[in-house]
Amino acid sequence: MEYSGDGLREHLLAMEHENGTKMEVRGLTKVSDKDVRILSKVNLDIPKGVIMGVIGPSGSGKSTFLRALNRLWEPDSGSVFLDGVDICDLDVLNLRRKVGMLFQLPALFEGTVADNVRYGPQLKGKKLTDIEVYKLLALADLDSSFYGKAGSELSVGQAQRVALARTLANEPEVLLLDEPTSALDPISTQNIEDVLVKLKRDRGMTIVIVSHSIKQIQRIADDVCLLVNGEIVEILKPHQLSEAKHPMAQKFLQLSS
Ligand SMILES: Nc1ncnc2c1ncn2[C@@H]1O[C@H](COP(=O)(O)OP(=O)(O)OP(=O)(O)O)[C@@H](O)[C@H]1O
Ligand SMILES: [Mg+2]
Repeated sequence: MEYSGDGLREHLLAMEHENGTKMEVRGLTKVSDKDVRILSKVNLDIPKGVIMGVIGPSGSGKSTFLRALNRLWEPDSGSVFLDGVDICDLDVLNLRRKVGMLFQLPALFEGTVADNVRYGPQLKGKKLTDIEVYKLLALADLDSSFYGKAGSELSVGQAQRVALARTLANEPEVLLLDEPTSALDPISTQNIEDVLVKLKRDRGMTIVIVSHSIKQIQRIADDVCLLVNGEIVEILKPHQLSEAKHPMAQKFLQLSS
């Protein structure tokens, strides 16, 4: 069969997709209002069912990069693909269900934990049963006693797990996490890390996690990309981090370890 132009591109994307690429980033660039380059022609393949770590110095563009993946800002069309489809061609709410996101600090809505977990499906007209809510809480390592608690009664670590359960209620295929444990104590951090590893193992979820903690990345990530000044300078396995060649990456890794 012969392909040309768009047909060829679609064919290639479909092939990559079959081989297990969940998201592709191609030439992603962002320039600020003041004409400063925040991201510069970023290319990355995010394989299906892996935990991809993103590390780099403060201000290197990690959050900006992550936020492009579910269109919290609008990337140029042709720069981010989900299962081979340009995310700019998807309905944005649908995209954000498929590509869920968790931030550094959880922002729960008013009401109970159960209200929070039910929120996403309710927008689609689906009311989760009590059992479904309990299952989602369990998935986020929360026992049934949390069901009726108010968000304001929770510690930050517990609230972060509720935020995770609320995101999981949308049955995402990809989870984006921007320093999800940086405000948490070591035990809450371990709880979240365990949940992430389980989601990957049991559900084949694809996870992209930005972290300041090299140790965390080494504990849970399968691949790590190093972002420096808005560019991906290296993509490595976690155990190879000490072999990074880029001078800024080396300096960052030395100072962080
Ligand atoms: N909306 C915006 N307008 C202008 N500049 C921005 C905007 N958002 C981010 N920036 C700039 O882009 C750069 C990257 O910011 P970003 O928040 O993505 O970095 P980061 O790697 O997540 O940093 P940190 O580790 O501190 O969270 C920074 O220099 C920041 O000042
Ligand atoms: Mg950030």
